[in-house]
Amino acid sequence: TLFNRHSAMELKLDPWGAVHVDDYNKLFVEFGISNFDQILSKLEHPHPYMRRKIIFGHRGYESVLAAMQRHEPFAVMSGFMPSGRAHFGHMMVMNEIIWHQQQGGDAYAAVADMEAHSVRGVSWERCRSLGINEYILSLIALGFAPKEGSHIYFQSKNYPMRDLAFELGSEANFSEVSAIYGFSGETHISHMESVMAQSADILHPQLKQFGGPKPVVIPVGADQDPHIKLTRDPAYRMRKFLVELRTDLKAPFQSNGRCASYISIRGKAASPEQMQAAEAALKDLAVGKIKRYEEHLDLTDIQIKDGAGLAALLETIEGLIIKLETDQGHYGFMPPASLYHRFMTGLTGGKMSSSKPESHIALTEEPKEAGKKIMRAITGGRQSLAEQKKLGGEPEKCSIYEFLVFHLSDDDKELLELDAECRSGRRMCGTCKKDVAERIERFLTEHQQARKAAVDILPEFGIKL
Ligand code: TRP
Repeated sequence: TLFNRHSAMELKLDPWGAVHVDDYNKLFVEFGISNFDQILSKLEHPHPYMRRKIIFGHRGYESVLAAMQRHEPFAVMSGFMPSGRAHFGHMMVMNEIIWHQQQGGDAYAAVADMEAHSVRGVSWERCRSLGINEYILSLIALGFAPKEGSHIYFQSKNYPMRDLAFELGSEANFSEVSAIYGFSGETHISHMESVMAQSADILHPQLKQFGGPKPVVIPVGADQDPHIKLTRDPAYRMRKFLVELRTDLKAPFQSNGRCASYISIRGKAASPEQMQAAEAALKDLAVGKIKRYEEHLDLTDIQIKDGAGLAALLETIEGLIIKLETDQGHYGFMPPASLYHRFMTGLTGGKMSSSKPESHIALTEEPKEAGKKIMRAITGGRQSLAEQKKLGGEPEKCSIYEFLVFHLSDDDKELLELDAECRSGRRMCGTCKKDVAERIERFLTEHQQARKAAVDILPEFGIKL
């Protein structure tokens, strides 16, 4: 279908290697990433990336969706490694952050200078100038607003995050980290530390001082999924009390004769006395809540057979447990959610990459130069004009058409018409390229204007030039 492009290459998720994801469907099966379709149907005003299936997968986005719909606190967080120029691929992450901020979320953007320095050998000075000039200014120009609960930071300067990274280091051991990243005896310690920093980036919006715990979504390219996995697991392991639902045991809440579920509290790293106190407190809280359910809801809603009702009950209890944990001074982290988007194909075929200038258009690219790159780009056109008229073009293989779908057209109808015109052989690549080149020049001119204005906003994020 129109928005379901598959670029060819192997399936391997490697956050630092050359990554290509061939069959996105395999990600669902092999990596346990969930399909975004079910979420999409529940969003009233999805972002165009969602509508166009550019965002195709997620982990645990339900919690964020629920918070968004109930106007409860949630946050969005992602990071950028300052190792080269920011291009339209990075802009997708920026737009996703901004969209969630506009939906009412707290927003966090990290410049991953610790990662760039340790993994790519970028000097601290260069990290800083690339961070500001390539990423931060564009992020602000695109609409990232300075408001309470929104942060742009350099990893190396974020001490609550770094403290948390150290703490997380006690949860992850070498075998686990190497299994995910293929670390070996030669891997530098700072590289490993930067992995913990990324986990801490992801979790620190849930620290008490930032108003957590709360649902947090991390929009990333699918290649970053290993980081997400390496964060969800320890976050969950760090929980002191976990909810376990048993259907087979005599239930403490069965007195009303209807809710046949049994909630047991599994305690970790707590003394038996603490456990007992926690259990008692929880039961009080939970029973109180269930009484409120009786008042407002049909009790059949929390019958064990009713999936939705059960989920609500579990969520309630989960919330109570998190409160219990934080009251006792624990983190009580919720597993972070994530969103995955498709990669853009490079203008030269292959992957769009910061290190290959011809493959991408930078957000700071001279507009005329960008136009020229478009004119040289690989399209889905045929060998000759005659052939194209006869067979029609192949928009699904066209990097120019992709630019329209991803970034340069708000109008789904227009895209469908262009697609049809191209396929039927009525539209030639020259016309299309000229049109897209013009659009990109206009876009960049405006964006670069907005970047100039963004310089004045830097101090509001505590950044001095
Ligand atoms: N590793 C990411 C990259 O290479 C950057 C990053 C750092 C990040 N911290 C993060 C991404 C937290 C998402 C969330 O681009």
